[in-house]
Amino acid sequence: MPVAMKAVRLHQFGGPEVLRYESVPVPRVKPGEVLVGVHAVGLNPPDWYLRDGYQRQQLPPELRPSIPLPAIPGSDVSGVVEAVGADVHGFSVGDEVFGMLRFPSFGQSAAYAEYVAAPASDLARKPAGIDHAQAAAAPMSGLTAWQFLIELGHHEPNPLQPKAHRPVPLDGKTVLVNGAAGGVGHLGLQLAKWRGARVIAVASGSHHTFLRALGADEIIDYTTTSVEDVAHDVDLVFDTLGGPATARFLRALHRGGALFPVFPGFAAAAEAQERGVTVSMTQVRSNGAQLAELAGLLDDGTVRVAIDSSFPLADAAAAHQRAEQGHIRGKIVLTVR
Ligand SMILES: NC(=O)c1ccc[n+]([C@@H]2O[C@H](COP(=O)([O-])OP(=O)(O)OC[C@H]3O[C@@H](n4cnc5c(N)ncnc54)[C@H](OP(=O)(O)O)[C@@H]3O)[C@@H](O)[C@H]2O)c1
Repeated sequence: MPVAMKAVRLHQFGGPEVLRYESVPVPRVKPGEVLVGVHAVGLNPPDWYLRDGYQRQQLPPELRPSIPLPAIPGSDVSGVVEAVGADVHGFSVGDEVFGMLRFPSFGQSAAYAEYVAAPASDLARKPAGIDHAQAAAAPMSGLTAWQFLIELGHHEPNPLQPKAHRPVPLDGKTVLVNGAAGGVGHLGLQLAKWRGARVIAVASGSHHTFLRALGADEIIDYTTTSVEDVAHDVDLVFDTLGGPATARFLRALHRGGALFPVFPGFAAAAEAQERGVTVSMTQVRSNGAQLAELAGLLDDGTVRVAIDSSFPLADAAAAHQRAEQGHIRGKIVLTVR
């Protein structure tokens, strides 16, 4: 096993230019962990939130984590088990695995690297039918959609609201997915279809063929149409943008419906109560067992991961620049091996 590896680190917060490709020690595995030789890394918004020190996100101060520097960003990987720590059952050297590591634990997941020490409980076997780039692209977006829509899967306190988040039945229901072409949106759309929902997908015009291919029943181009003017009597809005603007979806829901925003900022509790709409959110948590269930759907093609773009690990800054342009279709990945 080599003692040094290449990784991407930041020594100060800022734009994509603070990401430095450099040599660092290979991490050591602790009990309960395996060393993964990383083949691909999936990018997620928390990667750029961390990079800029949580300056631009309108997060309440209590949700702004403090990040020790230097830090290796990233949480999602796919790769091969290279070493196994004590007390690990179910994984052996040579296994292909994927996972979202130690989330939420800001700055501790350290995925932008050639090797990563991964809690075995955060990993699942990589589906044989997809490649490492697709597998690395799935965990955070897939687990977010899973924990919002299918099953929460844990009893940890909810940092975003006093109550535990509870998914609602989807079979035969109408689900509107806002931001449907993005990482969380395109997987949420497919999970809702898998569970028997009729899906209205909201995205800019360039994604419409893509969304039809994923199974969207109806598509709204938010650049030309106000969603709340045309969508009515919806059972569930899964808003993968969230923030204060999510309140406008209350008008699209019927009494008894639910609004699930993925990002904090909802501030219309009185209107929601008046309209009889439940508003609920949660923060995604690492979960290897749920990922194993999702792996089955990825393997048999029920759920497909789309790759927006791919960059070598050394070009992580270019990948972050791509993210800053927005309009992401699927996922951005880094290739490592
Ligand atoms: N609660 C949690 O634990 C959790 C977990 C993961 C992610 N998140 C949050 O979820 C959000 C989305 O993450 P992601 O990875 O899916 O991001 P993403 O891949 O960048 O997707 C965002 C999508 O939204 C679309 N969009 C942008 N403006 C829009 C608008 N005004 N109306 C409708 N669609 C719009 C974009 O494409 P077009 O504009 O071209 O349609 C893009 O496809 C982030 O804020 C992230 O922090 C929360």
